[in-house]
Amino acid sequence: MRRLIPASLVVLALAVTILRAASPDPAPGRPQYTGDNQLLRPADYREWIFLSSGLGMSYSTQPGHEMFTNVFVPQWAYQEFLKSGKWPDKTMFVVEDRGSTSQGSINKAGHYQTDWMGIGVEVKDETRFPEKWAYFNFDQDPKSAAANPKAGCWTCHEQHAAVEHVFVQFYPTLKPVAKKFGTYKEAAETIQ
Ligand code: HEC
Repeated sequence: MRRLIPASLVVLALAVTILRAASPDPAPGRPQYTGDNQLLRPADYREWIFLSSGLGMSYSTQPGHEMFTNVFVPQWAYQEFLKSGKWPDKTMFVVEDRGSTSQGSINKAGHYQTDWMGIGVEVKDETRFPEKWAYFNFDQDPKSAAANPKAGCWTCHEQHAAVEHVFVQFYPTLKPVAKKFGTYKEAAETIQ
């Protein structure tokens, strides 16, 4: 009997692996976690809705050269937002950091995007996280990441974002939607 238990576990593990391979993303654009509460890196974020790019916006204490920040949200959450001006539970955002340059090919002025430098991920998951919103980094491109401490990301988003934790003041297509539904915090636009 004792020897049967490990064997059945092996079969179970195999079945899970096969099922995962058959459907790599069972809930597209929704957060997936490991058993120890680490977020799995969202693989297909480049197929989500593109909200906007910043160039050299600085909100991090990390020194570094001027980067582009490209922001994405899954299609399903974007559609919900258009109907309500609110972010549904399980919404995720990706901010992708890209290098910038002005020298290349025929370019004479301005800046264009270059290498991938990492992603930050924000998740609204009201049942999993007591603070409802959680923040992750995938700079070294690992498969999963633990939530960052509150002071690292959460606090700034809580204090300065225009709609819940999201910087809608910088996303020109979302701003009129939030204003229409009265979910937009005008005070977040005040220059500081
Ligand atoms: C000092 C303020 C500040 C801190 C700290 C901060 N952010 Fe942000 N975050 C911003 C601003 C401003 C934007 C919008 C503009 C941009 O950078 O593209 C933003 C945008 C984002 C977005 C896109 C969705 C949204 O909410 O608008 C994600 C994802 C994100 N940040 C993740 C993180 C992560 C992960 C951390 C911690 C490592 C973090 N942020 C720390 C200010 C902050």
